[in-house]
Amino acid sequence: MKFFLDTADLSEIEEAASWGAIAGVTTNPSLYAKIGGKLSDFDDHIARICDIVGPDCPVSAESVAMDREGILADARKLAAIAPNVVVKVPTMVEGLAATRMLADEGIRVNMTLCFSVPQAILAARAGARYISPFIGRFDDISEDGLDQVGNIVSAIGGYDFADSTVGGEQVEIIAASVRSANHVTQCALMGADIATVPFGVLKKMVRHPLTDRGLDSFMKDWEKVQGA
Ligand code: E4P
Repeated sequence: MKFFLDTADLSEIEEAASWGAIAGVTTNPSLYAKIGGKLSDFDDHIARICDIVGPDCPVSAESVAMDREGILADARKLAAIAPNVVVKVPTMVEGLAATRMLADEGIRVNMTLCFSVPQAILAARAGARYISPFIGRFDDISEDGLDQVGNIVSAIGGYDFADSTVGGEQVEIIAASVRSANHVTQCALMGADIATVPFGVLKKMVRHPLTDRGLDSFMKDWEKVQGA
């Protein structure tokens, strides 16, 4: 399983990238608004993220258009920022139509706001390189977001979509809207290809009380050795 960082915050991305465990970044309009981002700085901001993580790490930037022509225009502009930009497109008819055209042009799409198996299969058939089922937002309406991710992983894994995607690459499932380290555990056990995690969740993933306790006792015993 790979980890992407789900943030637009440059300091979080710099810090997480230095840990060596991040294979990409996902952003969305809300995450950019959260850091006080301005429209005029958006392209430069995405370019900065691409610089920090390097050319092998995909960076998702979202189209905010609602019609296919608008999505295509957004996507072409975003894809021109850097070769590792992946365009996030919402799961809807106009998004699917635009995704097909973008895949045929060689522009990678991360199909976002996906909440069901039929949506995920349509996204894969339309040529999406990544599909992002959301966990937390499903949980928020008293449904089981993890169940949906498991269903989508199983359904997509049962077919070969290489004839649909850019360059025949395999479609990958990004577990999104991750709210806890347990979400990450369950997604790994289900075989999700990627989890995109907020920095707060990434920090929690590193910690375990037994690690802290073990470290504490090793340090105390080492003090005894030094005093002997
Ligand atoms: C995914 O790419 C989205 O940016 C993100 O995971 C949404 O998470 P949220 O539901 O916590 O806002």
